[in-house]
Amino acid sequence: MGFVKVMSVLVVLVAIGLKLVHDNTPPVIPGNLPKEMRALRVHGPGNATTLGDVRVDTIPVPKVERGYVLIRVRAAAINPSDIYFLRGIYTSTGNDPSFPAAAGFEGSGLVVGHGGGLFGHMLLGQRVAFGAAGGGAYAEYIAVKEDLVIPLPAEMNYPQGAFSMVNPLTAIGMLSTGLSEGHQAFVQTAAASSLGKMLLRLSKVQDVPMIHVVRRAAQKQLLVGLGAVPEHVLISTDNDFVPKLRALSKQLRATAAFDAVAGTSTAQLAEALPDGGLVYVYGALSNEPVKDVDPMVLMHGNKRIGGWHLRVWTDNLYFPQKLMYIFKTRALLTTALRTDINGYVSLDNFVTEANKYMGAATNNKRVLVFK
Ligand SMILES: NC(=O)c1ccc[n+]([C@@H]2O[C@H](COP(=O)([O-])OP(=O)(O)OC[C@H]3O[C@@H](n4cnc5c(N)ncnc54)[C@H](OP(=O)(O)O)[C@@H]3O)[C@@H](O)[C@H]2O)c1
Repeated sequence: MGFVKVMSVLVVLVAIGLKLVHDNTPPVIPGNLPKEMRALRVHGPGNATTLGDVRVDTIPVPKVERGYVLIRVRAAAINPSDIYFLRGIYTSTGNDPSFPAAAGFEGSGLVVGHGGGLFGHMLLGQRVAFGAAGGGAYAEYIAVKEDLVIPLPAEMNYPQGAFSMVNPLTAIGMLSTGLSEGHQAFVQTAAASSLGKMLLRLSKVQDVPMIHVVRRAAQKQLLVGLGAVPEHVLISTDNDFVPKLRALSKQLRATAAFDAVAGTSTAQLAEALPDGGLVYVYGALSNEPVKDVDPMVLMHGNKRIGGWHLRVWTDNLYFPQKLMYIFKTRALLTTALRTDINGYVSLDNFVTEANKYMGAATNNKRVLVFK
């Protein structure tokens, strides 16, 4: 634990060395904090396509304990996992949510209080991005564990900073997992998503061949505009999609696939990958279970289907590894791992805007902002 603390202090020192800027808002000393805050919470389940009973509640500002900092939230990301959570069908732990459940898995803001200790003191007044594995980012204040906070780069504003953890770390983590398991080239589905675009840019930075699967011609154009090799972008709705993917995977030696879609997509990938291929399922955009997998394909081709989740990956990292990945991610936040924001949302119009986002998600990312 001593080592962890020392490393944590080092993170802050290095971060300060990286010329962090302070927010102009003076830090609130805990005694001056408001007693109550507004927070978006889900009170009951919806279903696979409809949000649950989502309400803006007035609840107490959280108490900040040792090892935690109190953040005045300025922006929070809206990602597919947040939508699943608001539908009442997904939690960070995979268990059934107990209602009312505080929503929002990541955001950015100003550190206005801490539970004691040097690390918390050093973070006071810093602009930070934070992860909220248990939810709660869609609120005016949140108490977050000190090691789930990254000081924001000086050039990053709060809305951009709100997207610093979930997708960027997933892009870094999945690619590292795939490479460390011996794969040298990859296929990815839903490649026009924010995360898909990060994987595309990262694959170019790291010189890793990647095949990008999208479902519409306009999405192919988008990726080619971002520098994808046109022949390496395939459209899943084309009649000859699977044979084309099989030939290209063989040519590029793409032995692993990152699948955000599930449903029949996973089966198509397993069929198309070369023998020994592995499909990492990391999303459920089709709202369907993995289905129609031919057992003969798995047996005779020695192929596997597995899951990948950010929380599971980070839980299995040693602290120095975690730090290394956080720094690697932070260094790329304004370039390869940036998120394009297409709409600003408030607590009051959240439900309408969230529904618009999930209706057509490509280049339609929204962020919740607080005054
Ligand atoms: N496992 C993990 O730890 C982890 C971590 C982070 C993210 N994720 C997952 O990563 C995925 C991408 O997240 P994001 O924030 O980058 O998403 P996003 O920016 O909201 O984009 C979603 C993309 O998926 C496409 N899409 C939706 N339904 C589809 C379907 N049935 N078939 C094919 N494409 C479909 C959308 O295209 P249209 O415009 O055509 O709708 C859009 O391009 C999500 O599934 C998310 O849950 C997983």
